[in-house]
Amino acid sequence: MRRIVSIVALGLVLASCSSNLPQSSLNPKSVEAQKIDGLWILVFSIATVIFFAVQIALIVSIVRWRRRPGDDSEPKQTHGNTRLEIVWTIIPAVILAVIAVPTLRTLFELRAPATGDVLRVKVTGHQWWWEFEYPDIVGPDGRPLITANELHIPAGRTTELEMTSADVIHSFWVPPLAGKRDLVPGLTTYIKITPLESAAGEVIPGQCAEYCWLGHADMRVKVHVDAPDDFETWAAGQLEPAPVPTTGAAVGGFETFSGVCATCHQANVRQPDGTVETIGTAIGPDLTHFASRDTFGAGILENTAEHLAAWIDDPSALKPMAPELNDLDRGRVLGMPDYGLDPDQIAELVELLESWK
Ligand code: CUA
Repeated sequence: MRRIVSIVALGLVLASCSSNLPQSSLNPKSVEAQKIDGLWILVFSIATVIFFAVQIALIVSIVRWRRRPGDDSEPKQTHGNTRLEIVWTIIPAVILAVIAVPTLRTLFELRAPATGDVLRVKVTGHQWWWEFEYPDIVGPDGRPLITANELHIPAGRTTELEMTSADVIHSFWVPPLAGKRDLVPGLTTYIKITPLESAAGEVIPGQCAEYCWLGHADMRVKVHVDAPDDFETWAAGQLEPAPVPTTGAAVGGFETFSGVCATCHQANVRQPDGTVETIGTAIGPDLTHFASRDTFGAGILENTAEHLAAWIDDPSALKPMAPELNDLDRGRVLGMPDYGLDPDQIAELVELLESWK
């Protein structure tokens, strides 16, 4: 018995020591997550006290009033006890009423619209990736900042996500930053995130938390919490058009991009003569600054030339998708098809995309 207890205790101690908990809501990195964590600690503390009180009362009763050898008398038989029943109804009611006060306050605080100097980001869930648009960060050509799967937000300032879905219900969940909230087609839902200043420089992983078919487990998101200056630098860079290459393998890559990839992907490009135009269709992730992202495929693959070549060659081999069911006319997109490009075309495309920083 003692051995079992010590093994369980050791397990608990070791689990609490682990520092590698990137998706723990018990390691809050935003004002909102701290509120959720504070509420959890309060409720958990009360529940712990009740647990031990009940267990001690139970054990004492069992030991003290157990049947003793030689005592065959029948215990007193009772049916109902009004006073006891009133007491054990009132005590839990009072406890729940006490817990309800901070719970409701936290709920209302988290749901209240963000005020002050708020950064707005429109989030659209897709099978199986995230689209982020910053409607208030607009380039000279009038095009807002658009990116995919890696959300950048400034530390110390509130960002409000305005979320919806292009297809089925998804759920945005980055536990250290905020609670979980669904993205529902035809509806706008909101999340506020005010990252702590101490979180600047961190990249916090999250993922879709509502089953959305094949690619659900691979619908991940990374939130880059940037120091305010770094955020401004990043945003300014993202507004720059991508250069249309004039030399090297990337020239052929741009041809393939315009002819094949642009069926589903957009890029805001600057032609050699200086004109800026947006090419392609915004069905898949915007690729203008593809190389500025650490990962692709919605957070599942490190952004390297090898991974990208393998992905273009056969995307469904690296992530479960169903592009054979795509019906672009009806707006149904279930993954990136294998276009059967030859190795030279793939190498040229990789060259192009990895130059779009
Ligand atoms: Cu999107 Cu699960």
